[in-house]
Amino acid sequence: MAATKTTSTSSKTLLSFFLFFNIIINLNISESKLTLDYYKQTCPQFQQIIQQTVTSKQIQSPTTAAATLRLFLHDCLLPNGCDASVLLSSTPFNKAERDNDINLSLPGDSFDLIVRIKTALELSCPNTVSCSDILATATRDLLIMLGGPHYNVYLGRRDGRASVSSFVDGFLPKPSMTMTQIVSIFTKRGFTVEEMVALSGAHTVGFSHCSEISSDIYNNSSGSGSGYNPRFVEGLKKACGDYKKNPTLSVFNDIMTPNKFDNVYFQNLPKGLGVLKSDHGLFSDPSTKPFVERFAKDQDYFFKVFASSMQKLSLLNVQTGRKGEIRRRCDQIN
Ligand code: HEM
Repeated sequence: MAATKTTSTSSKTLLSFFLFFNIIINLNISESKLTLDYYKQTCPQFQQIIQQTVTSKQIQSPTTAAATLRLFLHDCLLPNGCDASVLLSSTPFNKAERDNDINLSLPGDSFDLIVRIKTALELSCPNTVSCSDILATATRDLLIMLGGPHYNVYLGRRDGRASVSSFVDGFLPKPSMTMTQIVSIFTKRGFTVEEMVALSGAHTVGFSHCSEISSDIYNNSSGSGSGYNPRFVEGLKKACGDYKKNPTLSVFNDIMTPNKFDNVYFQNLPKGLGVLKSDHGLFSDPSTKPFVERFAKDQDYFFKVFASSMQKLSLLNVQTGRKGEIRRRCDQIN
């Protein structure tokens, strides 16, 4: 009898324990669940407003797409994830992420695009759409305009309320890092080496400032191991000759098809036509080289891995439910 009672008591305890955790787990799942039609009822014009604003901005300033893609990476790769914290301005009491050295080269056009979209959305559906959902969707739409692959952007992100410049250090890749350090930045955030190489294929579009490559092209450039094609490095030296006087001087990341999202970036690397030291590193490092070779041969496969990796990036550490907020202005917390 006693044994039965103990059993039934413990099974009751077990049951309530199970139910309790089940509720918590379900809450977490439902709270953290992003959906494709999140704004269907609350802001039916969401997709259309983004699409229109993105199209007119990209036609007006064709550098916007690459700029926004890099802005998105620099937001999502930090431990606070895709929370639009990179858009917040510094205050007299706080230096924000966007004022960290690595973010100073993020072009104004990408910030301007988000302001334009947010302004249009606030007029149609006030206090409804997060800046982080705007950034994720605009990035995908711009990639498609350049010829890149489609992927679904899940929605329902909430915006972060903090942005601290010093928290950026160590979480974003720099061309001066070793390939091992760069790979580890991505694997720490849950990406495989193949996904990291695919994402780096983003350098098929956009620019790099001459200051990012000056030490590589003016020192050791033609020495063995630099990775640069000798004629290419002469071209880069000419293009960047005046960079000290004119710090805005930049070069295309993909000299063959600079404005098209394709796999030519990977075809450039074996020929020594990569621009950044880290681009050459992808081909010289044995852990990344096989992926470069595969993507160079097969654009469909590159697009497939790139699209799923972008979707993964867009879901990193997103805040949902009651966490974070829907910012009224993307550059300020409410
Ligand atoms: C693998 C490590 C990476 C390193 C070391 C790196 C570094 C850089 C640097 C130094 C620039 C030049 C910025 C400037 O001078 O304005 C740049 C540009 C760019 N990066 Fe990366 N990057 C890496 C990976 C990625 C990834 C994974 C993405 C996106 C998924 C990305 C997207 C871009 C884009 C689109 C540009 C052009 C920006 C523009 O035209 O304004 N990069 N990157």
